Amino acid sequence: MQRTFDVQAVREQFPALSRTHKGRGVIYFDGPGGSQVARQAIDAITGYMERGGANLHGVFPTSTETEEILSDTRRAAADFLGAAPDEIAFGANMTTLTFEISRALARGWDEDSEIVVTELDHRANVDPWLIAAREQGARVRWVRVDPETLALDGEDLEQNINERTKLVAIGLASNAVGTINDVAAVAERAHSAGALVAVDAVHAAPHIPLDRDAIGADVITCSAYKFFGPHVGVTAIRRDLFETMDVYRLDPAPDHIPDKLETGTQNHEGIAGVKGALDFISSLGEGTSQREKLTSAMNATEEHEAALAETFRTALRNIPGVKLYAAPDGVRKTPTIAFTVQGQPPDEVCARMLEHGFFIAAGDFYASTLAEKLGIGDSGGFIRAGLAPYNTEEEVERFIESLEEIVRET
Ligand SMILES: Cc1ncc(COP(=O)(O)O)c(C=O)c1O
Repeated sequence: MQRTFDVQAVREQFPALSRTHKGRGVIYFDGPGGSQVARQAIDAITGYMERGGANLHGVFPTSTETEEILSDTRRAAADFLGAAPDEIAFGANMTTLTFEISRALARGWDEDSEIVVTELDHRANVDPWLIAAREQGARVRWVRVDPETLALDGEDLEQNINERTKLVAIGLASNAVGTINDVAAVAERAHSAGALVAVDAVHAAPHIPLDRDAIGADVITCSAYKFFGPHVGVTAIRRDLFETMDVYRLDPAPDHIPDKLETGTQNHEGIAGVKGALDFISSLGEGTSQREKLTSAMNATEEHEAALAETFRTALRNIPGVKLYAAPDGVRKTPTIAFTVQGQPPDEVCARMLEHGFFIAAGDFYASTLAEKLGIGDSGGFIRAGLAPYNTEEEVERFIESLEEIVRET
């Protein structure tokens, strides 16, 4: 049984929603750049720091409590991703983790190796792999994005994977236009060729339930600041792969999983906050286990956001001069809405929307290959309005009214 989504109760959990700008209540549509932070995450961060922090491996309470926090968060993150706690490692952010992981995985590549990246992805799931391939002399194959459907070209993908492929790097969802890729099908094809699959779940994580095994990810990485927590990166690496990975590590540091990937002293207060964020998400769901609650919460979130996004996209399609970038109906998408306004620089539209209280951003959002391919890389990119569980129908309606006013005035 799914509980109905109580958006007002959700809003009460986000202190930043009471912020005003020039006398108006702020409307946050910049979630894809970073969501607002749930009170439970804030309390967990300040609670850790107020009670007294410490480094690991001490006999005294602040140290043992810190170790407990790390293992509790690992368990919660494992439940969130559908992995096991000892497969979870923390890091500065997704980009840094991907650089670390790519260095380790690339050690086995040579001139006969190939890797596959996509034109749809955020460059954080492209460039670390490109650099690693260049260092090893491996060949890089790019999967084409169809500029009409804003989805990956399945045939091209099929043709780019072969027995030389070592790794396929693919995003679960596009942070620019919201397209959700059929990663399970890609992983099946990659695995049958003997390749690994590295999934960027940064954009997808706040919007859809994640199941590492169902999508066939050998590596799956996300960032807590996109799902109501602090700036901490989280990765899950399949145990047998993780165990054999030769990572960059200091000699005295642990050489076992997952600690071996966690260079230096971790962001303990941030990791405490990740647990707070996941506790907030699970509080929106139902079930007996934590995994069930998280999955049910993410299903409810997806349903709430999809309804708002549908209204949003339909309204944008009807505003003359507005060009919407969205995959066709029937393609599953996150509630991330990209558009341009004819004759108006994207940044200027954002500045004018700010006068109406909206926090939205423009640019290529590091989905720069896609922006170039769509011919908007040099003209300021997309205007991106991204919805979060704390956004309401009324906010979407106000956005449309404000944008119509701005378009009328030009
Ligand atoms: C899809 C996607 N991948 C990767 C990243 C990079 O994440 P991080 O900032 O944690 O390095 C982002 C950040 O916006 C993103 O949206």
